Amino acid sequence: MNAPLLDVAGLSVDFATYGRQARVLDGVSLQVRAGQHAALVGETGCGKSVTLRAIMGILKSPPASIAAGSIGFDGADLLTMPARQRDALKGTAMSMVFQDPMTALNPVFTIGDQLATIIKYADRRMGVRRDKQGRKQRVIEVLDQVRMPDPERIFGAYPIMLSGGMRQRVLIAMALLNEPRLLIADEPGTALDVTTQAEILALLNDLVAARSLALLMITHNLGVVREMADYVYVMYAGTIVEHGPTEALFERPSHPYTQALIECVPKLSGTSTFKGIDGTIPDYVDPPVGCRFRPRCPHRHDACFERPPNVTVGANHVAACWLRQPAEEVA
Ligand SMILES: Nc1ncnc2c1ncn2[C@@H]1O[C@H](COP(=O)(O)OP(=O)(O)OP(=O)(O)O)[C@@H](O)[C@H]1O
Ligand SMILES: [Mg+2]
Repeated sequence: MNAPLLDVAGLSVDFATYGRQARVLDGVSLQVRAGQHAALVGETGCGKSVTLRAIMGILKSPPASIAAGSIGFDGADLLTMPARQRDALKGTAMSMVFQDPMTALNPVFTIGDQLATIIKYADRRMGVRRDKQGRKQRVIEVLDQVRMPDPERIFGAYPIMLSGGMRQRVLIAMALLNEPRLLIADEPGTALDVTTQAEILALLNDLVAARSLALLMITHNLGVVREMADYVYVMYAGTIVEHGPTEALFERPSHPYTQALIECVPKLSGTSTFKGIDGTIPDYVDPPVGCRFRPRCPHRHDACFERPPNVTVGANHVAACWLRQPAEEVA
């Protein structure tokens, strides 16, 4: 198998809040290979956005600090490489689509100006010569690729003049301008109505597939996971509790948290009613020792006071749980 493009290993992130340290990410490891589409799922507050922001190097420090681990990109550690080299990778080799299009766009510049500026810097970096008209042409081209209606008109428009769905398309265009190899998306389209969100996700799916991009996306919607992701990481309270190929994970969820998460999805057929997961995410300042899911787990027992091993439960399918037979432990 080819080496992973993104290789996060043992990443721990602390937040300083009111003089206390909260360990929000506790030894997170995940990998995304070229062309792979990975999803990161888990309930609100479990550390998904912090993970993506750490990868993009946009965690505000303080309050955040990286306590341990490495973030490998194409074989080099983003955390130890010179800042200039890291900044050059951001927005070029890896790019992020943000959740909230309004705050990610500058309200006082036209869409055309904002996209053309990105092209100008990219051209300078790559030694490409392109005049103003050439840059405009490229902007129109990329707006067309994200299926923006009437790109010529949108070129001169300000963000406020666009609908939420159109703004999200602009953000996707921005993320794709530099032809990245890895696209990171934090719940794209969740600020939009369901129909527009479905359109945005379908667009993203097509663009990523057409370019054979690697994708790491956060979503709350397990239906979207099944449709878009070939691999899933399940996060609970800053730890990865299970990961595996999408089909295997849905067919044989092996961690009680994953099982509960899947149970929560209301079924269209049958009589099952919506069930929530009892309890809440723990306090990160003083989290439960051992398995962080222990206090909410229906299967908890004495062993769970120790950190569970990563147990291989199928091909490329791993669950961090004492319930599983530790036939084969993986790092
Ligand atoms: N700026 C901050 N200062 C202090 N703590 C923070 C800060 N940002 C995040 N956290 C902590 O990190 C935890 C995880 O936050 P994160 O935004 O990653 O959650 P999430 O999984 O993305 O949730 P959601 O699904 O709601 O977006 C929060 O519960 C909070 O305790
Ligand atoms: Mg989030």
